[in-house]
Amino acid sequence: MSSEMVDLDDLEVLDVDRSGMVQLLLDFPEQMQAGERLGQSAELPMAANARAIVVAGLGGSAIGGDLLRSYLSQDCRVPICVNRHYILPAFVGPETLVCVISYSGNTEETLSAFAEARSRGAKVLAITGGGQLAEMATQARVPLITVPGGMPPRATLGYLFTPLLVVLTRLGLVPDQHEAIAETVELLRELAAQYRPGVESFRNPPKELARRLYGRWPAVYGVQDFSDVVAYRWRTQFNENSKVLAAHHVFPELNHNEVVGWSGSNSLSNDVWVVMLRDHQEMDRIAQRIEITKSLLQEKAAGITEVWAQGRSRLARTFSLLYMGDFTSYYLALLYGVDPSPVRVIDLLKERLATTA
Ligand code: PA5
Repeated sequence: MSSEMVDLDDLEVLDVDRSGMVQLLLDFPEQMQAGERLGQSAELPMAANARAIVVAGLGGSAIGGDLLRSYLSQDCRVPICVNRHYILPAFVGPETLVCVISYSGNTEETLSAFAEARSRGAKVLAITGGGQLAEMATQARVPLITVPGGMPPRATLGYLFTPLLVVLTRLGLVPDQHEAIAETVELLRELAAQYRPGVESFRNPPKELARRLYGRWPAVYGVQDFSDVVAYRWRTQFNENSKVLAAHHVFPELNHNEVVGWSGSNSLSNDVWVVMLRDHQEMDRIAQRIEITKSLLQEKAAGITEVWAQGRSRLARTFSLLYMGDFTSYYLALLYGVDPSPVRVIDLLKERLATTA
């Protein structure tokens, strides 16, 4: 496989990125900063006394909710859950804040959740780039955050996650996040300078990792309530940017099932390259689990790469890991010669569904 690999340091490989995904990746820190401003100026739902928060959305519009749940697991005084379905859980009612997110504004499951939240008397906040959700929210006089349109939803995480976080702080449901956001933006700017295509592979960790993953199955392992959602984000970015299958799992749960899958006698595991998302602040017991798991997998996997979180705040550490995954999936797309932006299969599915009642 490696003999056919294109050279990521030859900038002609960027020609395949016809829609300019690389610029969206590089602009991510600025997007996060703009997202903070959107959250600060947003009209607030009357939800300071909310007893639960539901984020309703799908795919690239839902992952911001997952990140919020994981990131705030120790800091939010009410439960947060993410709903990826037409219908909402039974507990949703007048004391629930439902944040309905659809970047296109036209995702049918999300529009159905919006209507249901309204009919249950929940407090609703809508975040969208336009479409029917913008119309429905305006008509219902529901607080609406409108983000710039025209990008792939997964490349708008800064616009979809950050305003939500800021709104929760303004409602008094979580502590202020301004310092953490500022540190994250600064760190991501530094990482963007290191990860950009002009930096050669030997000094560019995502390029180097993409080369290792080429022709192999990526399996990304995170840690519950820290990098669990980041591991999932890596997986979905491999799916949508690189157009490959990938797996993810989390410690400690994977020590109770997946690890047994590595012990079998078939040779498929030889083609799996494991990425472990590490953090210098992980619990000692989790660190010990990871070390033991590494020793069990060493002989079986094609290889193991550890990616360490950078930064001080939990937010910066989380996003440093996420950003490395976004760039790795981007470079893997270039190695496979595919344009990272289009997701024709998703478009096709939506078109087919639109023709069936
Ligand atoms: O990445 C994608 O394009 C998808 O995962 C979409 O985000 C998903 O289909 C939902 O669409 P939207 O984000 O417009 O609500």
